[in-house]
Amino acid sequence: MIQPTSTHRPEPFCGIDTWMPLPVRVHSITRENFNTQTYRLQLVDQDLRRAYRWAPGQFNMLYIPGIGEAAISISSDPEQTDAIDHTVRTVGYFTRGMSKMDVNGIIGLRGPFGKAWPLREAEGTDVVLLSGGIGLAPLRPAIYHILRYRARYGRVVLLYGCRSPEDRIYADELTQWTQAADIDVLVTVDNATGDWAGPVGVVTSLLRRIKVSADHTTVMVCGPRILNRVAAWNFLQLHVPADRVYVSLERNMNCGFGRCGHCQYGSKFVCVDGPVFRFSEIADIFAKEEI
Ligand SMILES: Cc1cc2nc3c(=O)[nH]c(=O)nc-3n(C[C@H](O)[C@H](O)[C@H](O)COP(=O)(O)OP(=O)(O)OC[C@H]3O[C@@H](n4cnc5c(N)ncnc54)[C@H](O)[C@@H]3O)c2cc1C
Ligand code: FES
Repeated sequence: MIQPTSTHRPEPFCGIDTWMPLPVRVHSITRENFNTQTYRLQLVDQDLRRAYRWAPGQFNMLYIPGIGEAAISISSDPEQTDAIDHTVRTVGYFTRGMSKMDVNGIIGLRGPFGKAWPLREAEGTDVVLLSGGIGLAPLRPAIYHILRYRARYGRVVLLYGCRSPEDRIYADELTQWTQAADIDVLVTVDNATGDWAGPVGVVTSLLRRIKVSADHTTVMVCGPRILNRVAAWNFLQLHVPADRVYVSLERNMNCGFGRCGHCQYGSKFVCVDGPVFRFSEIADIFAKEEI
């Protein structure tokens, strides 16, 4: 096993030990769908709240006393730092605990951790953002950034897929982004229910509907493991270079900053080398991994 080293350790946020969860208050809760909610959190300490900064794609470790911790991506606008959104899908032990939180409840937060989306490197290129299900959460801060600095990017396309129209997260914003036309938004569902009149099929099938300039496009992908794999290979088949395809990965986390080895992925630690990786960095590991 690769030994994590102390050189991975990031600068402590505001001089505070990165092991120590900071108290945050649940400011508000937005229901996204039947099993997913967005928690707007505010650091209780006002000085820390003013100082807290993050980059799109980074995550925090959220801690519920008596239950435990999990890595959750930051899903809000990186320039609205007073509150920090985390969108959580209820699937197991920690996330069930989260779903029982009420407004004004206090939990712990450590972070921000991890590498961000390559928004600076993407300037001057077209951008394709591809996500499935809850995978839109870590991409949402990148979308806010792109919309704020729209002139820095070429054509921007968001491809989003989920099981049914009811499974969409940020449904209102998807509509706003579509209407504003600053970016092209294409949403597909596996099962068309209700009055859904949009595309039906897996999210990668939307690639047939767009033109990708292979030598001039930056790709950012976040979804379930199988989607990350299929999407990355699809972009390579469209001749997008592997070092312009970025994928955000999930692994079980413990420390969050390269000390425990819990999130090891081949020769990488997802918490510090990722969660956002260039596909060229991880293609070998992807190829060996069981689906
Ligand atoms: C960098 C990073 C960012 C993350 N961002 C988010 C985020 O923004 N929102 C979010 O909800 N989660 C996110 N996760 C996943 C999160 O950390 C937890 O692993 C996940 O929420 C499950 O925790 P749990 O304790 O509730 O489930 P567990 O008790 O660990 O698992 C219960 C069951 O659910 C299954 N399961 C576990 N994780 C998932 C999953 N992601 N999808 C489907 N089934 C699953 C397990 O296989 C198991 O069968 C992120 C993970 C990483 C590493
Ligand atoms: S090394 Fe501890 S979570 Fe990554």
